[in-house]
Amino acid sequence: MKELLFSGVQPTNVPHIGNYIGALKQWAELQHKHRSLFCIVDLHAITVPQDPKKLRQNILDTAAVYLAVGLDPKRCAIYVQSEVPEHVELSWILGTIMKISELERMTQFKDKSKKRGENVGVGLFTYPALMAADILLYDTTLVPVGEDQMQHVELARTIARRFNSNFGDTFTVPQPLIQKVGARIMALDDPKVKMSKSGAPVSFISLTDEPDAILKKIMRAVTDSGKDVVYDTVKQPAISNLMTIYHHATGKNMKEIENEFTGKGYGDFKAALADAIIAMLAPIQTKLNEYKKDPTELGRILDAGRDAASKLAGEKMKIVRERVGLGRS
Ligand code: AMP
Ligand code: TRP
Repeated sequence: MKELLFSGVQPTNVPHIGNYIGALKQWAELQHKHRSLFCIVDLHAITVPQDPKKLRQNILDTAAVYLAVGLDPKRCAIYVQSEVPEHVELSWILGTIMKISELERMTQFKDKSKKRGENVGVGLFTYPALMAADILLYDTTLVPVGEDQMQHVELARTIARRFNSNFGDTFTVPQPLIQKVGARIMALDDPKVKMSKSGAPVSFISLTDEPDAILKKIMRAVTDSGKDVVYDTVKQPAISNLMTIYHHATGKNMKEIENEFTGKGYGDFKAALADAIIAMLAPIQTKLNEYKKDPTELGRILDAGRDAASKLAGEKMKIVRERVGLGRS
């Protein structure tokens, strides 16, 4: 079967190195192997309150990030979710066969709603129906994501099977694609929680952080009670997290990293890590500034992406409406 890849990032703030290592870096590699759609999921972003002006800016900035990390609009479609309304239509239909109990089990919903207390909209709850629609609309076969999105992709698989058994074979059942190392980059100030855009500034390194900020954040990063640079996610979770980042920034494997720092302390390792992150981000930052200066080119790329996605989405929705019995023939 021909593979089709789909993934997305929410246009909320600048992506961090967790987003890069867990998702974006993979996308840039995978686009060479498979037909790909990369979406800027603005409808997901509004499941928590957003400032409208900032959201519009973040959409363009996220498009610039996609290009800066190496996504090539000649190889993949890059587009904005809300510009292809079929996502919402399919989301509604899938919501009618999703169970409340399935949604209640979602870890992300439990975490986010706990933080927001009373202030939780229904959209945050039904978010996985929209995500399933994103994926199923294109007969996606592969979904490259970080570990935190696995549960949502699993639910999309369940819903694809349920729809197929209720209405006849319509959707391809997608596979999640997760990095072997780095699918869950942890916060620099607490290796027990994942690095997140909504965490404290010291907890993450954003793709636009300047070299001196990167050095400061890495030097302040929490370490373990030991003193050796050894990869052991159970006994040394903090240093193992930093080693994972180093692995992705340099391409060195864990054994090579351990050998490099035998007899040296955490200080030496952290200095080398900061240098490696600065070097990893430098070319991305240069390209990002170029793309941000050219909104006309960004617009052209997003228009072309929307047109390509719309064509596929339109064809699929015709079949879906017919299977469900909506409208008239
Ligand atoms: P988001 O910013 O929530 O839209 O996430 C975009 C992508 O980055 C998704 O594929 C996430 O699974 C991934 N991601 C987010 N946080 C991390 C993290 N701390 N480590 C690895 N991947 C992550
Ligand atoms: N929910 C994902 C996140 O927050 C983003 C996303 C939305 C997505 N739709 C998707 C990822 C479809 C993969 C496939 O990270």
